[in-house]
Amino acid sequence: MSWALLLGLLAALLLLLLLTRRRSRRPGEPPLDVGSIPWLGYALEFGKDAASFLTRMKKKHGDIFTVLVGGRYVTVILDPHSYDAVVWEPRTKLDFHSYAVFLMERIFNVQLPHYNPNDEKAKMKPTLLHRDLQALTEAMYTNLCTVLLGDTTEMGSGWHEMGLFDFSYSFLLRAGFLTLYGVEALPRTPQSQAQDRSHSADVFHTFRQLDLLLPKLARGSLSAGDKDLMCRVKSRLWKLLAPARLASRAHRSSWLESYLLHLEEIGVSEEMRARALVLQLWATQGNMGPAAFWLLLFLLKNPEALAAVRTELEHSLSQEEQPVLQMTTLPQRVLDNLPVLDSVLNESLRLTAAPFITREVMVDLALPMADGREFALRRGDRLLLFPFLSPQRDPEIYTDPEVFRYNRFLNPDGSEKKDFYKDGKRLKNYSMPWGAGHNQCLGRGYAINSIKQFVVLVLTHFDLELISPDVVVPEFDLSRYGFGLMQPEHDVPIRYRLRL
Ligand code: HEM
Ligand SMILES: *[C@@H]1O[C@H](CO)[C@@H](O)[C@H](O)[C@H]1NC(C)=O
Ligand SMILES: *[C@@H]1O[C@H](CO)[C@@H](O)[C@H](O)[C@H]1NC(C)=O
Repeated sequence: MSWALLLGLLAALLLLLLLTRRRSRRPGEPPLDVGSIPWLGYALEFGKDAASFLTRMKKKHGDIFTVLVGGRYVTVILDPHSYDAVVWEPRTKLDFHSYAVFLMERIFNVQLPHYNPNDEKAKMKPTLLHRDLQALTEAMYTNLCTVLLGDTTEMGSGWHEMGLFDFSYSFLLRAGFLTLYGVEALPRTPQSQAQDRSHSADVFHTFRQLDLLLPKLARGSLSAGDKDLMCRVKSRLWKLLAPARLASRAHRSSWLESYLLHLEEIGVSEEMRARALVLQLWATQGNMGPAAFWLLLFLLKNPEALAAVRTELEHSLSQEEQPVLQMTTLPQRVLDNLPVLDSVLNESLRLTAAPFITREVMVDLALPMADGREFALRRGDRLLLFPFLSPQRDPEIYTDPEVFRYNRFLNPDGSEKKDFYKDGKRLKNYSMPWGAGHNQCLGRGYAINSIKQFVVLVLTHFDLELISPDVVVPEFDLSRYGFGLMQPEHDVPIRYRLRL
């Protein structure tokens, strides 16, 4: 940095110091903490490791407080009994779109004319439920077989080595891409499937480069080198997902058809449509792979859990007429009757799902807390719920909350456990990996089916093991709080082979 620039920065900072009238807490408002750096407040600490920062603030101020983060006053609520009061407020009071629009523009360069998120959601919703969900689930199994079994067969017999994160993320994203965006040709031929494998691998590798830059991109802290890379990666993705290129694909999902129609109706240009499709690739595919990674890793690290899942699976599959190795789809009744696997999935998500649930305060209002207190919120501030800390990792709700217990969501008789308490009161929502209220995940059913199919496919068709059995579960990449599923700081090597 040159001296002139440094001096300029110092002068600007000084000016800021003099100009900012420090906000003070008014009667009835939550505790206010502006930190010691003018304007920035706690932005650096928040960006570095949001969970530790918010835990520290909770110890200092309790479960509601307001902090200054990069010029914005953010009121944080960490009492899960009080979340309902926030997530169902109408948009005129607490708006849930402006932050999404900000991310959409900043990260994906998407600007839609006459953008109405409610309308968009209403159109998308039916394409991810009921009969369409069934069609997606079936297509997903076929595509998982294409990429997973196809790749492995192509590589030849014997053991293959790979990182478990790479393994889970790439196969789920590639199959997910083929399921939603269509395949090369129908009926499938060996040639078209080879094409599906290489094209989807190209999409994954390009997507993953963007995914890695995402936290920095969202905070606006990319280096010059990062920026170059990002531009190249984005334009490559826009080409790969260009509507003209997708037009010739077969077996496109009704989700894609209806989304493209919607974009056309609101008059979105061809170029902007490609960008919107890249945004959707991230929204739909960014979490399944990481979720499957943690699930498989917890199973590999907990032999008792793995044995319980295997026993349940063998029992369930033994009731089917056809052996699993010959099935071209997994019957929904099999997927729906795996309570141990459900508990394992929910436990994995409890430990690793860390989305921010945010709202913009549109008018001055009084927020009622579940314990009877009421707090005044100021127009223009932002609200933040962080279920990762509570309920998900709250020691009052879960004993040893940081420990993976595969049967945490099962009663001793094997039925689903639903009673969890805080402050002596039963919780309605004790884990919120899918978000809450108005913006709950629409793809939940499809995501759950897909992850379960992937795990079943891996457990029935492969031998899979950790290369070093006593490897420790990696720490989180701490820059990713807020985006959804956490990713590991580094990958975990495994070996796998087709079981014949
Ligand atoms: C493990 C996998 C997944 C997790 C943990 C997850 C989680 C979430 C969360 C937390 C939100 C709320 C975001 C917000 O607050 O704005 C969300 C929204 C959404 N998800 Fe998922 N998701 C997953 C997979 C999927 C899949 C596979 C699809 C579709 C095929 C999907 C479609 C959507 C859509 C369309 C929304 C937007 C809803 C809105 O506009 O408010 N998700 N997801
Ligand atoms: C797991 O969570 C899903 C919803 O996210 C729920 O429908 C299901 O009943 C839960 N199952 C268990 C065993 O906890
Ligand atoms: C919690 O679950 C109940 C239904 O069990 C639902 O009505 C409510 O909106 C949920 N609250 C949140 C914050 O998701």
